[in-house]
Amino acid sequence: MIDIDWVRQQFPALQQNMVFMDNAGGSQTLKSVMNRITQYLTECDVQLGASYATSADAGGRLHEATEALAEWFNAAHMEEIVVGGSTTQLLRNLSLCISQQWQPGDEVIITNSDHEANMACWRDLQKQGIVVKTWRINPNTLQLDIDALKAMMSERTRLVAVTHASNILGTINPIQEIADTVHQHGALICVDGVAYVPHRPIDVRAWDVDFYTFSTYKTFGPHQAIMYGKLAVLEAMPGINHGFIKTVPYKLQPGNFNFELTYALPAIMDYLMDLGGSTQPAVNKRRDGLLAGYAAIAHYEEKLAGQLLDYLNDHPKVRIIGCPQADKQLRVSTISFVHRSLSSQDIVTRMDTYNIGIRYGDFYAVELIDDLGLREKEGVVRVSLVHYNTPTEVEKLIQAFEAIL
Ligand SMILES: Cc1ncc(COP(=O)(O)O)c(C=O)c1O
Repeated sequence: MIDIDWVRQQFPALQQNMVFMDNAGGSQTLKSVMNRITQYLTECDVQLGASYATSADAGGRLHEATEALAEWFNAAHMEEIVVGGSTTQLLRNLSLCISQQWQPGDEVIITNSDHEANMACWRDLQKQGIVVKTWRINPNTLQLDIDALKAMMSERTRLVAVTHASNILGTINPIQEIADTVHQHGALICVDGVAYVPHRPIDVRAWDVDFYTFSTYKTFGPHQAIMYGKLAVLEAMPGINHGFIKTVPYKLQPGNFNFELTYALPAIMDYLMDLGGSTQPAVNKRRDGLLAGYAAIAHYEEKLAGQLLDYLNDHPKVRIIGCPQADKQLRVSTISFVHRSLSSQDIVTRMDTYNIGIRYGDFYAVELIDDLGLREKEGVVRVSLVHYNTPTEVEKLIQAFEAIL
């Protein structure tokens, strides 16, 4: 399904003698993305909103880019797209704005399997009297149990913050079902899609989520992040920009956003569509093309993950932290494990000599690592595969593990 030689040619960095398997930390960037950054800076690097031709041109290009991004989320309105420097920043801004509508005693629920980005900004609201509760994964199944969420929700619950896929476990959470539960209780849902979007398509309308964020530097693009917010909810919220700026998304984007990076992002979508076999990035075919591209990715990554999981499942000294099956419905290809006697640090340090980039630690999912009692192991060893990795690379990794583990 995937023409892997073509795929790898699209990423200049993959021509080096290095195996990149820390992709959930940061993925490699498409050449087409780099080209569009250069194109913007070369052709229309001016301030927006002026009447002269180059400014109008720049504004038009960013309008088109934002429309495309809305389609990536399957959002109904381009005003629902907020861009920012990082997911951490976007979620912090969101918490500062939306919490102004809340009263002391109102409640927020966070999970213990999230990255700090979708925890700390909510936890810090305790200083203003917001009650923060933690929805913990079942330690046996390592899954979030929806009945446990139902039991935690009250008429004071204002928001539930949850990750779509854990950046350690790789598990895909049933976001639509969680969103239904949250809405039945009259609250909002804020989803961290950072570990999910490099692997699977977004559909904010089908899932009916209120906020959804991801970081484009883990999705084959530059260091930038995007947040979707439901229009009515964004409109009702106070902003964080200059007081006279009342319109969305501008009231949530303090100062200028990064024009050249935003302009570059649709190149990722065009690439995904090419992967799915589309030859024309015709606007009305974008969504189908994107879905086809992601379907090819999911199929390919399931096999890649299966290759590694088969090895790890059979290893007598290894414990996989997360779903042991490669099933694309259940997990993405971010795979973590610990070793019975070696620390995670020892394993990764030894791996460095093989020119294979993997990583160990808590990956800022601090609470998850502590709750699972994995701090003394120096966290987990994480191998995060994406669709540009190859079976040959996975085999090289397995050979290295054979020597190390
Ligand atoms: C699951 C998850 N959420 C959020 C973030 C934070 O992203 P950013 O660096 O864009 O703030 C990360 C970064 O590692 C992540 O893995």
